[in-house]
Amino acid sequence: MDIEFYRHYSNALEAAQGPAWRYNEMKPRGFNYSSFILARVYDTYHQMFRDYRWETEAIVTRLGLDASATVLDMGCGTGAFAIHAAPFYDTVHAVDVSKAMLGRARRKARKAGLTNVQFHHGGFLTYEHNAGPVDAVCTSVVLHHLPDFWKLVGLQRLAAMLKPGGRLYLFDVVFSFDIAQYESCFERFIRTMSVQIGPNGQAESQTHLRDEYSTCDWIMEGLLERAGFAIDSTDYRDGFLAAYLCTKKGA
Ligand SMILES: C[S@@+](CC[C@H](N)C(=O)[O-])C[C@H]1O[C@@H](n2cnc3c(N)ncnc32)[C@H](O)[C@@H]1O
Repeated sequence: MDIEFYRHYSNALEAAQGPAWRYNEMKPRGFNYSSFILARVYDTYHQMFRDYRWETEAIVTRLGLDASATVLDMGCGTGAFAIHAAPFYDTVHAVDVSKAMLGRARRKARKAGLTNVQFHHGGFLTYEHNAGPVDAVCTSVVLHHLPDFWKLVGLQRLAAMLKPGGRLYLFDVVFSFDIAQYESCFERFIRTMSVQIGPNGQAESQTHLRDEYSTCDWIMEGLLERAGFAIDSTDYRDGFLAAYLCTKKGA
């Protein structure tokens, strides 16, 4: 490859995908959400141990916004939050890196007759929000797909999409157990997931721990603060799950 061809090639790549140094969030790691069959399996399976409507209503209550609000669901998956939140708000932007997950969410929204959910292919690092700033962002079980530095970049980008004083609800697998005991805690996590989510729980939780990027509670709190959020409340459960309600600083 001569130098001119290389320069031309890397410029073309950059124009298509953004800077070549940016973490490639489109490449699945850990659980693979890119297949249409797996998107259907995910949705069917998750509805066996989750109540999307109940989860959403709890978040809507905590966000405390009125019906004129616009919210954004980052990593919407098959629409667990976006679809059930739509009746409460003016507009919902639903964003995901997986076209398969988005496809299923879009079909469900159409079937439910929803006209106020806008679907976007993109992610924490690549989604460009070209509409007005939003009142709140919700992101559930998604941020652990990024390594810590890129989590910070992603959170900063979310802060930039929010109005001053806008809210962030973040739920994810975050480690708040005693790190010296991490091996027995991981075993407990795998056992708990197997009981809570059934036969796939063991393989899914092992994949999560091995190939995905869940981080520690104190790191997550630092990332949120540095990204421009004030943490209003934290809810750590079982040493593995965490929910954060935050407000964009500088209101
Ligand atoms: C465990 S699912 C959660 C989906 C949904 N939030 C829910 O509560 O069911 C994780 C989702 O995050 C998406 N995802 C992975 N990396 C992402 C990124 N960097 N930005 C946005 N979405 C991402 C996946 O495609 C998948 O749909």
